[in-house]
Amino acid sequence: MARKIHIFDTTLRDGEQAPGASLNVPEKLQIAHQLARLKVDVIEAGFPISSPEDFEAVKTIAGEVRGPIIAGLSRARHEDVKACWEAVKAANKPRIHTFIATSDIHVERKFRKTHDEILNMAVDAVAYAKSLCDDVEFSTEDAGRTNRKYLAEVVEAVIDAGATVVNIPDTVGYTSPWEFAEIIRSLMQTVPNIKKTRLSVHCHDDLGQSVANSLAAVREGVEQLECCINGMGERAGNAALEEIVMAIKTRGELFDAKTTVNTREIVRTSKMVSTLTGFPVPPNKAIVGANAFAHGAGIHIHGVLSDRRTYEIMTPETIGLSGSRIVLTRRSGRHGLRKRLADLGYDLDDKQLEEAYERFMTIADRRREVTDSDLEAIVHNVVSMVPETYQLETVQTTSGSEAIPTATVRMRSGDQILQDAACGNGPVDAIYKAIDRLTGVKLHLVGYNVRGVTEGKAAVGEATVRVERNGETAVGVGAHTDVLQASAMAYINAVNKIVHAAETAKASGAKRRKPPAKKAKKKPATKKARKKKAARKGRGSR
Ligand code: KIV
Ligand code: ZN
Repeated sequence: MARKIHIFDTTLRDGEQAPGASLNVPEKLQIAHQLARLKVDVIEAGFPISSPEDFEAVKTIAGEVRGPIIAGLSRARHEDVKACWEAVKAANKPRIHTFIATSDIHVERKFRKTHDEILNMAVDAVAYAKSLCDDVEFSTEDAGRTNRKYLAEVVEAVIDAGATVVNIPDTVGYTSPWEFAEIIRSLMQTVPNIKKTRLSVHCHDDLGQSVANSLAAVREGVEQLECCINGMGERAGNAALEEIVMAIKTRGELFDAKTTVNTREIVRTSKMVSTLTGFPVPPNKAIVGANAFAHGAGIHIHGVLSDRRTYEIMTPETIGLSGSRIVLTRRSGRHGLRKRLADLGYDLDDKQLEEAYERFMTIADRRREVTDSDLEAIVHNVVSMVPETYQLETVQTTSGSEAIPTATVRMRSGDQILQDAACGNGPVDAIYKAIDRLTGVKLHLVGYNVRGVTEGKAAVGEATVRVERNGETAVGVGAHTDVLQASAMAYINAVNKIVHAAETAKASGAKRRKPPAKKAKKKPATKKARKKKAARKGRGSR
């Protein structure tokens, strides 16, 4: 019988570590509920000690999301493990995931410790985690570049200390599939207690091998794969969940394996993650790209019309693509809106639905049709629970090859009407400068993207902006048939988020911290001091 491969989703932890990604607690909760509907086996909800928001997100998800195991990440230190346990303990099925790097470069250059010290820290962290929680996962960070013999020693020791899952990450995406398979094979053959744990892998995509490496590991007997929706993650990202799951489903006989993911939720989950993070999915992305099931060449179209299987190895329906285009109008009512939002994967409470309805009616009054993109922009705001401190009233621009780009923006803030004009390098720049003047909030624009989301000349354009202020990032979205208007709406949305985050932080007295601060670089020790230290330790490094 086909073996079950457990799917460990780390979109909310490793995925959110992608530069520029930033999700607030309600957004993470919404995604976690959708991951539960997707039926992943494990949700890694965050890194509790890294910031008060991360702690809050993991705790909220552990308290509210049912079905999957809820895991939190922690370094191999008691303080981290304890914080992780405090955050996950409300879950029906909590897991502590602790890790330490094992490659020479990390052991010697990052930690400046001996390999024995690292092994002891790993065992100590697992034993402590086990005293708090039955389910403990341990990761050997940078396993792809770790000495094989040492890797096997660490794995054996942490299994003895009680690790229920041992994860082998290719942290820097360095290996190739046959090489990674060989690492897993050697662990299977040389670690005597390997059968007492579930072996897992976690592959990064620096050389574009993450999915191939993960699948190669499945063939060697691993039972858990760590991955992210849309392949999000540090640097080039993690293995894409949708690619792993569909490869196993489509070619199950190659792997003699299966997952229990509900593949019909894949598109919905991908869209939600893309909307809430503001990371667009490239059109040629496998499985979830807009072109993944589109056929262009005449020969292909002819083939598909004769029999879809000529050029399609899986059906769009399997991943939840219906092909039908549904639009709402002002007569669709609250029920229609709730139903369509549920179809898109959003589960709003009554207060959120009321707010979404108000925003929906504002658009429906102005336009005949309200598209899914409009709805996504609406829920983006409602789900984030960001008050509309500023609202766009009108925007007017002048530009052209001979004209100086100028924008006049009128906004509302409570009962106040604010209006100003500015010049810029282009109409969008002029709009953003005018908005900055009106709000007094000076933002650094780090990303701007507009895409057409409906067809035809009157297509709706969806603008996504990513802004930064004092290390705080926010994503704003806006959708409109006029892309300049959409651009203004997106920017104001981002301003509102930044203002809201600052107010929340002020109210809670909490200072936002991103992943644990790296230790300040020590001054190189003198030769004499190094000798003294080595003598104190009484052990050399490997
Ligand atoms: O890439 C990595 O090694 C990680 C670990 C913390 C699992 O993300
Ligand atoms: Zn990672």
